[in-house]
Amino acid sequence: MAQSGLARPIPGGNNVAEPQVVRTLTALRRAIGRLRARRDTIALVPTMGALHPGHLALVRLAKRRARRVVVSIFVNPAQFAPHEDFSTYPRTLAADLDALAKLKVDLVWAPSVAQMYPDGFATAINPAGPAVAGLEDRFRPHFFGGVATVVTKLFLQVAPDIALFGQKDFQQLKVVTAVARDLNIPVKVVGAPTVREKDGLAMSSRNAYLSQAERARAPTLYRALKECAASLRAGKPLDEALAEGRATIENSGFALDYLEARHAETLAPVASLKDGPLRLLVAAKIGKTRLIDNIAV
Ligand code: PAJ
Repeated sequence: MAQSGLARPIPGGNNVAEPQVVRTLTALRRAIGRLRARRDTIALVPTMGALHPGHLALVRLAKRRARRVVVSIFVNPAQFAPHEDFSTYPRTLAADLDALAKLKVDLVWAPSVAQMYPDGFATAINPAGPAVAGLEDRFRPHFFGGVATVVTKLFLQVAPDIALFGQKDFQQLKVVTAVARDLNIPVKVVGAPTVREKDGLAMSSRNAYLSQAERARAPTLYRALKECAASLRAGKPLDEALAEGRATIENSGFALDYLEARHAETLAPVASLKDGPLRLLVAAKIGKTRLIDNIAV
């Protein structure tokens, strides 16, 4: 029977202190102020929670790049369209905090929607450039405005020296890089490689939605990307390689949104391998679940 609110060590247990969790801007400012007073460098890892090894790889990288690591956990309503999965998005805060404790994260910023978007909130960031490249934005027109707004707020709230984002969300990485540059926010945006399951499926909080049968077919996306990249390197014309990739994906039961080759820096359309460096990007639905992935060529 618990006799006090204090955690007691469990003999033989995994007695790792939970990170400090702050839920209000006032508490965040106080905590960040303490870190800044010690002149500690700060890395921020923005997340929507439901943490998996892909997120934790960002945290590990952050620890190597800064003295202190702040992880934000906020399922951001502004980046979900009304028909999307905001209300059902997985929320696993207790497990997330355990995972972050093991990595000795210093601070978790977990605001409520009312903290982030109080009544009267009326200012948003409207990104262009990579945010209107004609990839995710064609299918999720709300998305990058919502991401850019919340990420700008996180940058201003936490004032990190560096911030880490996954290449898994490649267009998002380009958008937040452009936002920081264009708005002169003094943060270095760092991209980290995609962490995959053993069968190649890119880890994602949304993989939890997949049925067993869908999960078995999901690695097709990565396989199609790899085959397409290999064909291009072997000299196959871009149109042909993409057509084959699209067929592979559709034949395995996906509804394809796009499979495209773009310039890896600008996301501009390309005509051939010579216009590179190239990045292949894909989005497709299997059942009700929309998956995205991308690789370098
Ligand atoms: P979320 O989907 O929780 O992802 C948080 C960060 O983890 C993003 O930078 C994402 O690219 C990275 N990530 C996800 N899966 C990964 C994987 N398999 N390997 C490597 N990195 C991976 O992306 C968001 O949240 C939100 O849009 C956010 C940026 C937090 C703004 O709300």
